[in-house]
Amino acid sequence: MGLTIRTLAAATASVLLLWSAAHSQAPSDPPAGPARLFADNCAGCHGADRAGGRGPALTEARLVARVDAQLRHTIAAGVPGTEMPAFGGTLSNTQIAALAAYLRTPAPATPPRHPFVPSPDGQVLHTQKQDVRVEVVARLETPWGMVFLPDGRMLVTERPGRLRIVARNGALLPAPVSGLPPIHAGQDGGLLDVAIHPDYRRNGWIYLSYSEADPGSSADPVPRTMTVAIRGRLDANNRWTDTQTIFRAPSARYTTSGSHYGSRFLFDRHGHLFFSVGERGDMRNAQDLASPLGKIHRVNADGSVPADNPFVHTPDAVPTIWSYGHRNPEGLAWDPVTGLLWESEHGPFGGDEINIIEKGRNYGWGVISMGKQPGITGTSAPGMEQPVVFYTPTIAPSGITFYSGSKYPGWKNSLFVSGLAGQQLRRLEIHGRQVTAQEILFDKFGRTRAVVTGPDGLLYILLQNPTGLGTGVGLSESTPGMIIRLVPIK
Ligand code: HEC
Repeated sequence: MGLTIRTLAAATASVLLLWSAAHSQAPSDPPAGPARLFADNCAGCHGADRAGGRGPALTEARLVARVDAQLRHTIAAGVPGTEMPAFGGTLSNTQIAALAAYLRTPAPATPPRHPFVPSPDGQVLHTQKQDVRVEVVARLETPWGMVFLPDGRMLVTERPGRLRIVARNGALLPAPVSGLPPIHAGQDGGLLDVAIHPDYRRNGWIYLSYSEADPGSSADPVPRTMTVAIRGRLDANNRWTDTQTIFRAPSARYTTSGSHYGSRFLFDRHGHLFFSVGERGDMRNAQDLASPLGKIHRVNADGSVPADNPFVHTPDAVPTIWSYGHRNPEGLAWDPVTGLLWESEHGPFGGDEINIIEKGRNYGWGVISMGKQPGITGTSAPGMEQPVVFYTPTIAPSGITFYSGSKYPGWKNSLFVSGLAGQQLRRLEIHGRQVTAQEILFDKFGRTRAVVTGPDGLLYILLQNPTGLGTGVGLSESTPGMIIRLVPIK
């Protein structure tokens, strides 16, 4: 069952797919061959060419020392205490035997590198419902979040720790905003999202999320860090002033992990601020209501706790929690038609999710997943939500937005999903609580981190040059990036 779901999701990589629900597949579909099984379940760790990555190379030289029964046992039972998962729960004995036999055949040649176009300016995209031309707006480093000010300027975060201003004419101001609090940049952390108060014209509040080191651990070789949210203002000289804390966890929640800080901001119409915090690499946090990690939080604009939050009366629960059981959510958006809150989150190894977030619900991380994770065998459980759609192999979804402007008529009310590993921008057609169609708008301009609609009604997208396998740059390194926009043609 888990396998057929994953195989179906893998097929979404083709340009357009219609399906009624993510969890249905015709029983007559042929069983997947071992090469496909390996690509879907193993290649992410062992490499498509079996040359290794997160897991060891599975070459003949290594495996010659193992008998087939050992290989089958390793695949079925995993290797406890390592990242090698047990597949006994999701693959049949026949499939496991086929995989073990497949490992004895010559490894396929390294697949061609993902095409990457470092200068997309002027590229024309012919898509299902709209043709667009890519325009580069500004170049900067590992951009993470952006927001437009009412005067047309754009604020953009660079993950290494800089808040940049793009003038109305598109010029990137050379000097970053000065006077930000100390930011700990490393691995997934740094300066992350930026948002403005819905009533910004009157109060000037700007919200920033970032990772900081616990002052008590700054002398440690690996400082303990955590996601923080603040607000402040820009003065006439573009200096950061008036800092107020919106969210800061107790020191005991800071960890030496460098992963999964979240953290996307989204205001609702009533002035509540939603923001996401990842589980910081320990999935137990996601199920623990006493921990702020692995949660979507909801606060008032000043950081105080709304009285109608779901866990305000639960003993020991963090009162800002809105939903839990999340791994690393990096995207939040309102559906303009239904008013539902949509979210994207990174899965462990495959199993990236798009969810509808509802008050007090448990999204299952730590217990269930559509991806591979040691310690997780199930894909569903009572009282835990299922994703609307999920992605295996991974696309590493980050920022998402619904389009409600009028510049691309065929895209009205579509959900746009950026993907880091997938280097892609996806368009999802949504009807109620279902994704009815998907399209990849591009997949070759680099890691795609965020997408927002500008005041001109155009989609603006943050890109970063690829990292990780085959690029010569570590997966979480900072690299050059840019802001692009999609200009409709005709
Ligand atoms: C999340 C990462 C991950 C995934 C997914 C994964 N592996 Fe592994 N695998 C590992 C790691 C790590 C090891 C090394 C374990 C150890 O230290 O002994 C390993 C070890 C193995 C070994 C033992 C090699 C030896 O020397 O005996 C085999 C065989 C193997 N994996 C096959 C598979 C197959 C087949 C799949 C897919 C069905 C798969 N693995 C999926 C991470 C992974």
